[in-house]
Amino acid sequence: MKQQLENIKKVASDELKTIKSISDLEKFRVKYLGKKGELTDVLRGMGKLSNEERPVIGKLANEVRFFIEESIEERSKELAKEEQRQRIAREAIDITMPGKRKSLGTKHPLSIVMDEIKDVFIGMGYTIAEGPEVELDWYNFEALNTPPNHPARDVQDTFYITDNILLRTQTSPVQVRVMEKQKPPIRIICPGRVYRSDEVDATHSPIFHQVEGLVVDKGITMGDLIGTLKEFAKALFGKNTEIRLRPHHFPFTEPSAEVDVTCWTCGGSGCRVCKGEGWIEILGAGMVHPNVFRMSGIDPEVYSGFAFGIGVERTAMGRFNIDDMRLLYENDIRFLRQFK
Ligand code: DAH
Repeated sequence: MKQQLENIKKVASDELKTIKSISDLEKFRVKYLGKKGELTDVLRGMGKLSNEERPVIGKLANEVRFFIEESIEERSKELAKEEQRQRIAREAIDITMPGKRKSLGTKHPLSIVMDEIKDVFIGMGYTIAEGPEVELDWYNFEALNTPPNHPARDVQDTFYITDNILLRTQTSPVQVRVMEKQKPPIRIICPGRVYRSDEVDATHSPIFHQVEGLVVDKGITMGDLIGTLKEFAKALFGKNTEIRLRPHHFPFTEPSAEVDVTCWTCGGSGCRVCKGEGWIEILGAGMVHPNVFRMSGIDPEVYSGFAFGIGVERTAMGRFNIDDMRLLYENDIRFLRQFK
C-alpha cells in the first residue's frame, strides 16, 4: 500500500506537468481526489490494515493528498498567469500604427446659407412657419390674388397632380396658411422647397429653395420693409452692402419690387459676375395686397404688412461664388468639401 501511494504521487506529479488548461486540471483533480479517485480508493482500503500499519500509511496518505492538492493549486496559478500572458499578447495594440481616419461630412452650402438666413430673422424676432410642398391651387395661386388665367401663372408653370392640387411653385402660400390661423401681429419666415417645370441649366432647376417672409401689424410701412431687407443684406453679404428696389409686379403685393444687392464681387463698380451692372437680384418683395388680407380673414383697413421671397440658390451662389447651380445638386464631395 505504501508502494501504491508513492506510485500515485509519482504518476500524478508527472501527469501534472503535461496539463495545459484549467479544465484539464479539474479532470486531473477528480481523477485523484474525487469520490471515485485513485487516492480515495486507496484510503478506503485502510480498514483492512493492522493497528501498527494504519497510522503510518494514514500519515503517508495525507501527505500524498496534501502534495496533490498543493500541486494543483500551484499549477492552477501558473496556468492562470499563462492565460493572462497570452491574452495580453493577443490584445496588444501597436500604438505606432496610423489610426483610422474618420471622415466627417460638411454642411451643404444651401444648408449653410439657409441657416444664416434663419439666424438673421430669428434675431429680429421672427418665428419659423411651415407648409406643405404638395399644395392646393387655392393657396398657391387664388388666395394670393392670382385667379385662373392670370398671366403670372404662366411663368410659374408647375407640376399638377390634379386640377386643383400641385407642387407649390413658391413658399408664398404659407403666408395665407399662417394668416388664416394666426391673428396679427405676425412675424414669420418660411424656408422651404419649391417646384417649377423648368429645364435644368446653370441658373435653373425644377426643384429649388426659397425663404418667404411675412410681417403683419398695425402701421407697418414700406420703410419697415426696406430697413429689414437692408439688415438682412448686410448680415449675409457684409456691412458695406446696399440694396436697391426696382418696381415690379407680383399679384399678391402692391406696390411690389424686385430687390438687388450690391455685387458681392466688385462691390458695385461692375464686373463679370454682375454683368457690369454692379447689382444682383436676390429677392422679390412688397406690401401685402388688400385682396390677400381679405381672403385670409384679416381686415386691410386695420392692418398692413410686407412680404418677401428670397431665392436661396441665388444667395448661396453669390455667397460662395458658385457659377453653376447644378453643382449644388450633383453632390460631388470634391465640391461639397470646400464648404467648411
Ligand atoms: N413668390 C415670389 C416668386 O416666387 C417671390 C416673392 C415676391 C415673394 C414678392 C413675396 C413677395 O412674398 O412679396 O417669384
